[in-house]
Amino acid sequence: KILILDFGSQYTQLIGRRVRELNIYCEIHPYNHFPEIDENVKGVILSGSPFSVRDENAPQPDLSNIKGKLPLLGVCYGAQYMAHNFGGEVLPSDSREYGRANLGFIDQESKLFKNMTLNTQVWMSHGDTIERLPENYKIIASTADVKNAAYKIEGETTYAIQFHPEVYHTTEGTQLLKNFAVDICGCQQDWTPDSFIETTVAQLKEKLGDDKVVLGLSGGVDSTVAGVLLHQAIGKNLTCIFVDNGLLRKNEFESVLDSYKDMGLNVIGVDAKQKFWDDLKGITEPEEKRKIIGRDFIEVFDVEAHKIKDVKWLAQGTIYPDVIESVSVNGPSATIKSHHNVGGLPEKMNLKVVEPLNLLFKDEVRRVGKALNIKQELLGRHPFPGPGLGIRILSDVTPEKVRILQEADAIFINGLREWNLYDDVWQAGVMLLPVQSVGVMGDERTYENVVALRAVMSTDGMTADWVHLPYEFLAKVSNSIINKVRGINRVVYDISSKPPATIEWE
Ligand code: XMP
Repeated sequence: KILILDFGSQYTQLIGRRVRELNIYCEIHPYNHFPEIDENVKGVILSGSPFSVRDENAPQPDLSNIKGKLPLLGVCYGAQYMAHNFGGEVLPSDSREYGRANLGFIDQESKLFKNMTLNTQVWMSHGDTIERLPENYKIIASTADVKNAAYKIEGETTYAIQFHPEVYHTTEGTQLLKNFAVDICGCQQDWTPDSFIETTVAQLKEKLGDDKVVLGLSGGVDSTVAGVLLHQAIGKNLTCIFVDNGLLRKNEFESVLDSYKDMGLNVIGVDAKQKFWDDLKGITEPEEKRKIIGRDFIEVFDVEAHKIKDVKWLAQGTIYPDVIESVSVNGPSATIKSHHNVGGLPEKMNLKVVEPLNLLFKDEVRRVGKALNIKQELLGRHPFPGPGLGIRILSDVTPEKVRILQEADAIFINGLREWNLYDDVWQAGVMLLPVQSVGVMGDERTYENVVALRAVMSTDGMTADWVHLPYEFLAKVSNSIINKVRGINRVVYDISSKPPATIEWE
């Protein structure tokens, strides 16, 4: 495997994903807190960083067991760090070097640039520049503005590059990472979904033995894939629980439950609608709604799980981005919304936790799901928040508002499917606004609800932009909602990006 040491760059996860795309396993760890280097580690990559090496509190990794001992690749900060600390000079550059550049000089002999073309485009993003290299450092690539764009340390398999190979705009970045990981580190490209399934199922069998395991299914991709993997490993010792919290999409509970049963999963469907609705009565504050929904889920789940005799493990569909302990430059990031819906569940239930997907990125979960023959219908589903329609009803939740919103949402989502737009959208939904507006229907004046349609493109939900859905489509959906859903007389379309807005309205 490849070890990636994180210095807090926004691109660190991307390095990990690029390496994984080469079917090579890698792990990301904070630069100041990484596991021991054993024989499984074939090479190390140092990430970029928002810090300057000249900052007083600049990250100082301990490379004593790495540098000169196994292949090492410094990217951006990683490159500057080694130059600065081993006798070179790093200074602020006159102009920030940012954006596209071309490698006008490449050392064709260098393994790092194998099969790469002269003048290949690379992406720069740095405020400092390596002015002078230490003595035994050799320049292996330059751009017009950046002489020391890449170097190798003589006598070591240590390489460093000033540009970012992981970003899309570095056209041959993947080739460079492949040269490093395969040719220089000697990694095999054998980390595929099938090999992941094989080793994970074997590990789960070993770990869980004859123990009973309980898993909460949500209808989402992660919990579904986790469920199928566990099912392959331990069969009937896995019990799944799927809770109807009264805040799901229209017919979602029934149809998802059916798909799960079709896949052979042992799943208990719990109708807890009334409990959630009762507890949410009169609550308008979004965070309070989230807390109540999270707490109710734990209560319902706990009661059901205790009906299973001798259950020892709680399985969760946690994925890698939730696990990576990223180096945070500004301290723990402020809680904008409390997204951890079921935090506290394991503690409360006194169960051991098993998380079969905690090494996978989202796209890998989908690939694994595909290799497990899970239907595209389930794998391709848009993300849906844990608190569901509870946070799409702005103001207090009532069963009647849930019904109205379910109807409108179904028209919108089914419309996206019919118009073949569903897969072009990352996430979509309808918000029921706490606003009434005047309308006319026939000769009557109406005073009814407004809904907002939201459809966004994103890769990870961190940033998002609204989708430019065709006007004809929006017209159809609007018409259909106003004509068919009693209680709604006005439809608007949300054209805000994140940031500064968010995807959900609460
Ligand atoms: P925002 O609204 O923060 O949403 O831009 C980003 C992504 O997170 C989802 N989301 C949630 N998911 N519990 C969840 O499980 C929540 O409380 C929650 N709030 C937002 C949102 O749907 C989007 O995919």
